[in-house]
Amino acid sequence: MIAGMPAPMRLLVAHSEPGAGRAWRDALAARLPAAHVAIDPGTPDGAGPDGAPPGFEADWAVGWGPPADLFARQPRLRGFFSSGAGVDHLLRHPGLPAALPLIRLEDAGMGELMADYCLLELLRIAGRHDAYAAQQTRAHWEELTGYTRAELPVGIVGVGVLGAHVARHLARAGFTVRGFARGPKLVDGVEVMHGASRWQEFLEATRVLILLAPRTAETEDLIDAAALARLRPGGWLINVARGALVVDADLVAALDAGTLAGATLDVFREEPLPASHPFWHHPRIRVTPHSSAPTQVAVSAAQVAAKLAAIARGEAVGGLVDRTRGY
Ligand code: NAP
Ligand code: GLV
Repeated sequence: MIAGMPAPMRLLVAHSEPGAGRAWRDALAARLPAAHVAIDPGTPDGAGPDGAPPGFEADWAVGWGPPADLFARQPRLRGFFSSGAGVDHLLRHPGLPAALPLIRLEDAGMGELMADYCLLELLRIAGRHDAYAAQQTRAHWEELTGYTRAELPVGIVGVGVLGAHVARHLARAGFTVRGFARGPKLVDGVEVMHGASRWQEFLEATRVLILLAPRTAETEDLIDAAALARLRPGGWLINVARGALVVDADLVAALDAGTLAGATLDVFREEPLPASHPFWHHPRIRVTPHSSAPTQVAVSAAQVAAKLAAIARGEAVGGLVDRTRGY
């Protein structure tokens, strides 16, 4: 360091998935050439020569599932950037300092992916594609009557950055879409409800229920037997939020009883979904491996870099997590 020159910003990447740490390190270094970007030695990618040198004290950290001792080892952190939209994993971290600012990704390319995933599922439902797949296993030829868009009213729980994007996409595709949020919201072409007094009405108007709310104390187990029973007959559940929003046993019971026609699940209480879990082999459940909207590292690193620049200019940034609300 040259005397009188400010020290370069030090950024630490702490990601639990092998490969992701290096991808983030490279993308951030490309966006922030003046910064010193290193990988936390307590993570898979930082365990070898790519790990931060001893004594590396970071100003900011970026990542997912950071090691249990990360915050004790990094006492000078000014904030942590989640490399995803959700922060429930960080809020449950036992070592997270109470006052450390947490900043999450806002869309960063995920909205388009999530919207396409949900539209694809709706079109599969409308076209009876699951029934045709089942017929094919029996070499059975029978044309079925599909559903019109009007027969598949959609309800989205959580109309934030991603939910609003999905809602607009589905409304543009011709579906009737309602949203349910924690507070009042305006989304073009979409009626958004809020408040306990509107919850039953929202469910009763919905045939395809899409979950896009964060996991919080309020949303855990939100979708139980009573909620599923309120949906229009022959309903569907698409969970792209977090597994803990749904009571697993109630979902299976509703499918077995025929209250619900099908479910598409991208997220689970335990991930990877254990091989013994009944969801894997249920004839009316489609499982995808938390792949509806993967983090787009290059776009996301650009967003983190832009937020760091805004903070350096003394400006407020979006995506700052409200610890009391839990998202
Ligand atoms: P966001 O912008 O914070 O939006 C959250 C929405 O949920 C807001 O509309 C909020 O209401 C609503 N909400 C919060 N608590 C609620 C409650 N108790 N009842 C009803 N609505 C409630 O978050 P986002 O960026 O859209 O992301 C949403 C979630 O998607 C993330 O938390 C994450 O769990 C999940 N996700 C999954 C994947 C995947 O690959 N499967 C990828 C990215 C994200 P207000 O508008 O009133 O605040
Ligand atoms: C993924 O689940 C995310 O929260 O970005």
